[in-house]
Amino acid sequence: MSAKPRKTPEQLRSHKWYGVSDLRSFGHRSRTAQMGYHRSDYAGKPVIAILNTWSDINPCHSHFRQRAEEIKRGIWQAGGFPVEMPALSLSEPFQKPTTMLYRNLLAMEAEELLRSYPADGCVLMGGCDKTTPALVMGALSMNLPTIFVPAGPMLRGDYKGKYLGSGSDTWKYWAELRAGNITDADWRDVEDGIARSPGHCMTMGTASTMTSATEAMGLTLPGAASIPAPDSRHAQMATLSGKRIVDMVWEDLCIGDIVDARAIHNAVTTVLALGGSTNAIVHLIATARRAGVALDLERFDALARQTPVLANIRPSGKYLMEDFYYAGGLRAMLANLADLLDTTARTVNGRTLGENIAGAETYNDDVIRPRANPLVANDGLAVLHGNLAPDGAVIKPAAMEPHLQRHTGPAVVFRDYNDMAARIDDPALVVDKDSVLVLQSAGPQGAPGLPEWGQLPIPQKLLKEGVRDMVRISDARMSGTSYGACVLHVAPESHIGGPLALVRDGDLIELDIPGRKLTLKVDDAEMARRRAAWTAPKPHFTRGFGTLYLKHVTQANEGCDFDFLEAGGAAPDPEIH
Ligand code: FES
Repeated sequence: MSAKPRKTPEQLRSHKWYGVSDLRSFGHRSRTAQMGYHRSDYAGKPVIAILNTWSDINPCHSHFRQRAEEIKRGIWQAGGFPVEMPALSLSEPFQKPTTMLYRNLLAMEAEELLRSYPADGCVLMGGCDKTTPALVMGALSMNLPTIFVPAGPMLRGDYKGKYLGSGSDTWKYWAELRAGNITDADWRDVEDGIARSPGHCMTMGTASTMTSATEAMGLTLPGAASIPAPDSRHAQMATLSGKRIVDMVWEDLCIGDIVDARAIHNAVTTVLALGGSTNAIVHLIATARRAGVALDLERFDALARQTPVLANIRPSGKYLMEDFYYAGGLRAMLANLADLLDTTARTVNGRTLGENIAGAETYNDDVIRPRANPLVANDGLAVLHGNLAPDGAVIKPAAMEPHLQRHTGPAVVFRDYNDMAARIDDPALVVDKDSVLVLQSAGPQGAPGLPEWGQLPIPQKLLKEGVRDMVRISDARMSGTSYGACVLHVAPESHIGGPLALVRDGDLIELDIPGRKLTLKVDDAEMARRRAAWTAPKPHFTRGFGTLYLKHVTQANEGCDFDFLEAGGAAPDPEIH
């Protein structure tokens, strides 16, 4: 697209607050003076909102107070006026039942903060799982000049001289503890060493997947998403982002000019080449819809068939994000993938994605694989359909035991999470390695909030027999740091009467990943009988945000946005009185 004319100070959105001469603007200026700013600090300058998701209870963002100061330094240097605004901090390790229940709330908060205050442009500070899509979704609906500062991955975990990966090694050592292969003291050492610096999870979980997708979408400075959080280059990136957003305001380069069909294509392809989290499917569908770009499960599956997995990072691979950065980072991987990307897509620095990745080198081709030697040739993710998932389900074939890719076994059904937790380790549970574990009531409405319960634990008695993977099916999500033959996001979910609600113990279920099928081997007449006997459960909420959520959240295959937020252009600016 051609560049727009540069804005004049009178064309700034903030001019309506600060630049006019009336009673209300007197209040804005006098109250800005109250904070210690002289009018020369802000007059005629772009006001840059810094949406900071720092919180005392979000360890992934514990460096964000300092980073906000570094962003401000860049904004001041470039002639802008920084205004830091705290926004809902969705802290993955602490928030119950799941941060996913609140992703749309942060998206709404981001949009309304930007709308109701005199923001000319914004810096989004996110990283811990849902914060990234939430901030981007909200900013898309507001459509101001926007730059994203990713939190960056934490350093590698450390345990007895071995590297530990967030989540992935938690599940691994938890299974070994339950199998009796490590002691309680070993387990405590894992606890002490697995998270040893600021930053988000350093496996290819949802955080690394979504910050990388956001970079591929063109919303960060080149290379930003791969820099470890404590690295001094991360602080430099924050300052440079602050400098750049001021120019973006004068150039009127808005987020809607960047996030188009090309950018979404690049984000999806990047997620697939990273062996990224299945959660990205839900978030990118929601993001694309906010941008008015069509994206569905079939598009993911089609791109998965042609996209190799090049990032050798846990849980699909061997290394961690710190290794990925030293090996050249996302720019290097995208350079290896250039023919599958739309390199004409525009980015925040005003250049194309192709210009930003040109000449990027790989320094370790076991971490970032060349095209001739991918980690997995294709199918980083797969979309399944069948009578058990009429609207689709997803699985991550790269992170499961290959012999389960075609599997038929009898169902062992848990009606909800508490039922599963109470019975999974019961020695009397009728289950063997060929069983298919089924969890109901774990979807957007059923759990509620579509939590990461999809990696059902292997029953203890099977762990002791050496079983480490088996087919599991749910309408839940799974942490991107998890692994296993877990069919996820079954839609429609069981809580609203999807076929998953009708599965009974002993029913045969066939998983066929090459054929992209998920089949409940029960005849139609029996299914009709079960359906007639099914009654809808009571809703989980009768007041508060939960009622808004239940009324408006869409299903997993639709992105789980609120239906009233999905479409339409930005709402008008507030009237200034
Ligand atoms: Fe914050 Fe994993 S807990 S990214």
